[in-house]
Amino acid sequence: MATSNTTTQPRDNWGSKLGFVMAAAGSAVGLGNIWKFPYTAGESGGGAFVAIYLLFVIFIGFSVMLTEFAVGRKTGLSAVGAFKSTDRRWSFVGVIGVVSGLLIMGFYPVVGGWAIAYIYKIATGLLSTPEAIGDSFGGFISNPIQPLLWMGLYLIFNILVVIKGISGGIEKAGKVLMPLLFAILILVAVKGMSLPGASAGLEFLFKPDFSKVDSTVVLAALGQAFFSLSLGMGCMITYGSYLKKKENLVQTTAMVTAMDTSVAILAGVAMFPAMFAFNMEPAAGPGLIFVVVPQLFAEMGGIVGLLLALLFFIGLSVAALTSSVSLLEVVVSYLIDEKGMKRSTAVFSASAVMAFLCVFASLSLGGVGPTLFETGAFDIFDLLTDKIFLAVGGMLVCIFAGWRLNRSELEKEITNDGEFKFPLFGLWYNLVKYVIPFAIAIVAIAGVKAGFD
Ligand code: PFF
Repeated sequence: MATSNTTTQPRDNWGSKLGFVMAAAGSAVGLGNIWKFPYTAGESGGGAFVAIYLLFVIFIGFSVMLTEFAVGRKTGLSAVGAFKSTDRRWSFVGVIGVVSGLLIMGFYPVVGGWAIAYIYKIATGLLSTPEAIGDSFGGFISNPIQPLLWMGLYLIFNILVVIKGISGGIEKAGKVLMPLLFAILILVAVKGMSLPGASAGLEFLFKPDFSKVDSTVVLAALGQAFFSLSLGMGCMITYGSYLKKKENLVQTTAMVTAMDTSVAILAGVAMFPAMFAFNMEPAAGPGLIFVVVPQLFAEMGGIVGLLLALLFFIGLSVAALTSSVSLLEVVVSYLIDEKGMKRSTAVFSASAVMAFLCVFASLSLGGVGPTLFETGAFDIFDLLTDKIFLAVGGMLVCIFAGWRLNRSELEKEITNDGEFKFPLFGLWYNLVKYVIPFAIAIVAIAGVKAGFD
C-alpha cells in the first residue's frame, strides 16, 4: 500500500490492531530499555531509581502516551501538523519534537552500530579471550573509523525500512522481531539468575535505598520514562495519526506501556545478577551491556554461550532498529506533510543530517571534536534530549491537550464516541491538565539546577 504524500489523500492505516501495538511497542522498546535502563539504574543507585521510574511510568508516562495517541488520531497528522491544525501558535511544540528526533538520531545510530558490530565481533572470536572484552570495547568506540562504518550500515537499514512506508515496512519488521527479542531476554535473565551470588544483583535492582536519591536521580528517572516510552517528541502522535478510528486507545496505551516496562525490568534482571556474580561494577556506564553480556557468555563457554551471545546482540540490533525507524519517521512525516516532499527525498535528507550529527557523536568518544563544558557531542545530544527536550515536550503536549483542546472532544476521541467506557477519564484529564505539567516543571528545574551545582 502506498503511503499518502499529502494530507488531502487518505492516510495509510495500520494493517491490524496487533500490528499497531507491535509497531508502537517496537518504537518504545529499544536501546532505551536494554542499553540505557540498566546502566542508568546502575549509576543512579539501583532500587530507588527503579521505584521512582516505575511511578513515573504509571502516573506520567501512561497519561502522556494516551494524550499523544488521542491528539495524533484526532488530527490524523504528524507532530507539527497535529498542533498547527488546531492553533498555529502551537506549531512550535511539534517543531521541538522534530528537533528532538534529529538530536536523538544524532547518537542513537552510533550505539545501534555498536550493536551490529558486536554480532560480527562475537561471530569472529571476541568471546575466546574474556580478559580482553572490557578493553576491546573501549578501544572500539574510541577508534575514529570503525564505529562510523557500523553506524553507516545501521543507518542504511533504517532508510530501507522507512522508505517502504508504514504498513509495508515498520509493521512487518515489528511483528516478526519483537517476540524474538523477548524470548532471548528471558533466556539471558534465567541464565544470569542461575549463577552463584546472583541474588545480590536482584537486591540492588529491587530494594530501594532512598538515601541515595537526589534531584538528579529523580530527573534521570523522568528522562528514562520519557525516552523509553518514546514520549515528548511527537513520535506517538505520528503513530497515532495512522491508527484506525475503531481502536481502543486506552487498551493500546496500556499494552504498549506494559510491554516497554517489562522489557526494561527484564533487561535489568538479565544484567545485574550476572554482574554481581562476576564482581563487576554496577556504575560502569554506557559500556555496561557491551562488556557484561559478552563476558557472561564467555564464562559460560562453548557453543551455547556463543549462540546466546549472538542472539542477544541480534535482538538488541533489532530492538534498536524498530525504535530508530520511528525516530526517523517523525522527521520524515514532518517533511512529507509540511514541506510536501516525496517520501524518498524526505528519508534521504533527514538521514543525511542524522549521519552528519552521528559522525560528531562517534568521534567525541575518542576525544575528537568540539566540546561544551567539557562534554562531547555524544553526551550533549543525549543529555539535551533525555533530560530536557523530551520532558518539556511532554509537558507542552499535556498543556496543549488540557488547556487548548476541548474536554468533551477529548473524551469522544478516547472513548470512540462513547463506544468504550473509560471510568478514569476524569482522573486522566486532571492529571494531564494540572498535575503532570507542574510535576515535570519541578523535576526538570530541580534536576537541571542540581546538574550545574
Ligand atoms: N523508546 C526508544 C528506546 O527506548 O530506545 C527511543 C525513542 C524512540 C525515543 C522514539 C523517542 C522516540 F520518539
